[in-house]
Amino acid sequence: MAHLIRQMGHILMATTELQDSATDLSDIVGLRVTRRDADAIYLSSNERQYEVVYRRGDKPGVLAIGLEAMDAAAVDEAQRRVQAAGFRILDDRSSLPGIARAFRFATPFGPVFEIHTPVPRTMSARYIGTANRPRRLEHVNVRVADMPGFRDFLTDALGMKISDRTGNDELIWFRAWDGFHHTIAAGRGGNLHHYAFDAHSLEDLSGIADNLTVKGRTLLWGLGRHGAGDNIFSYYRDPNGCAVETSVGLARIENDELYEPRVWDLQTSLVRNLWGVPSPAEFNAAGIPYLADD
Ligand SMILES: [Fe+2]
Repeated sequence: MAHLIRQMGHILMATTELQDSATDLSDIVGLRVTRRDADAIYLSSNERQYEVVYRRGDKPGVLAIGLEAMDAAAVDEAQRRVQAAGFRILDDRSSLPGIARAFRFATPFGPVFEIHTPVPRTMSARYIGTANRPRRLEHVNVRVADMPGFRDFLTDALGMKISDRTGNDELIWFRAWDGFHHTIAAGRGGNLHHYAFDAHSLEDLSGIADNLTVKGRTLLWGLGRHGAGDNIFSYYRDPNGCAVETSVGLARIENDELYEPRVWDLQTSLVRNLWGVPSPAEFNAAGIPYLADD
């Protein structure tokens, strides 16, 4: 199966706290605001015009998880497969600026996705502001209603590949064409548990923890090192209740064709944290719902 998805795209979230949400992401992680509309604020930490978009809504939730397709033909092919699967197409274009071709759809598993051609890369890579800033939006962690169904959808319809999984497919990590260990991580449930940023260094993770302290808050979990992906992580909770991960050193899969997924035992292995400290209840309780209509 050829890859249809090139890499992580954008994430579009609804919030009742538009300005606070954007300010918090700027203050804590270091993204900068690149654009404002009447009801939306766009943020990015790199050349892309946006990686995270907050839109004013009457409740917090995720309106779309954006996945950048290989090209416009890959968007078309993905749409054919999504329609053949009988999923509900919500829009046949992006609601965000600058995207040439896109469609957005709901899934019976929970997540709402937008498959799209690239977000324009017209911003300066450098900007005035906080010392720490991430390289990019790295991955999302979704909780879904039907893990086997979701697995088959991502692999068979979208051409994503499994990098790691647990023995009974309680947790699965999926990669896109760009070779990073995972663009989507999935477990059972019904919300977006977290979105994650690729940080430059461990210093940046300490900076994020210090930024939280200045605001009278603390990390949700970490530091630790994930077994699946080998990345060093920390998490905090954003103003909408979603967890935000910052990660250093996510593994790359060097040979996409030959790589065989590793299989972890969820009960006995340290797949979640090789350093051993388990996730606290507050971490597990984080997340925002999927909103199929905006
Ligand atoms: Fe993650």
